[in-house]
Amino acid sequence: MNKVEIFENERAMGYNQFVETWIPNYNYFLDCLPKLLSETAQKDLLVVGCGTGNEIERFAKAAEQWQITGIDPSPEMIKQAIEKLQSFENIQLIEGLVNALDTNKKYNVATLLLVLHFLDDNGDKLNLLKDIADRLVSGATFVMLDITGNKDQIKQNLAVLRLLLPAGLDEQQINNRLKRIENELFAVSEERLAELCVEAGFEPPLRFFQSAIYMGWLTKKR
Ligand SMILES: C[S@@+](CC[C@H](N)C(=O)[O-])C[C@H]1O[C@@H](n2cnc3c(N)ncnc32)[C@H](O)[C@@H]1O
Repeated sequence: MNKVEIFENERAMGYNQFVETWIPNYNYFLDCLPKLLSETAQKDLLVVGCGTGNEIERFAKAAEQWQITGIDPSPEMIKQAIEKLQSFENIQLIEGLVNALDTNKKYNVATLLLVLHFLDDNGDKLNLLKDIADRLVSGATFVMLDITGNKDQIKQNLAVLRLLLPAGLDEQQINNRLKRIENELFAVSEERLAELCVEAGFEPPLRFFQSAIYMGWLTKKR
């Protein structure tokens, strides 16, 4: 049974505003993706936990022609993605979990942005990574963005995050959000993330991006 973090109601409707406020450099990171992956020969992309389709939009608007499959278990998130992306061709959007996708169809690139920290390191993270690996060709590129770090790193980078937040936020709201990140989400250390990747069938990942607690990782399916 795969753990699912459902986004609904205000959390789904206010999602785009939420990420812009709380994740410094989120849009910059997304803008980098098509450039980062532009040298991939086959542009057959699987976007896991695509949410409202923010990362898909970047690929849809890229100079290269991408064939894109986005999948997400939250009906209210995928609905927003469908509305946002309906005018683009070559995009298939599916409500569900990645393990529902046929393993006979293999992708050349996959992304998993801001999803893994909702899953505990009790087998749930590993299961999701394995489910993704099972749907990729050998040598496929895999990009992740996730809250990463050991307890001390997270503590120190939460202090950095506080400094980078936009002006005008309510102090209580900031404290609640930072507490939730520290105590309720499931960040793992860089070393543990590498172990999980290797166990799931990927190369040890390269950290290519960091904005406070958020790290961007690049790896390949072995
Ligand atoms: C923070 S949002 C990220 C959305 C998008 N990737 C982005 O960067 O804007 C997390 C998404 O993960 C989805 N999700 C929750 N549990 C999941 C799971 N087990 N597998 C895949 N996606 C999941 C949620 O439905 C939600 O849309």
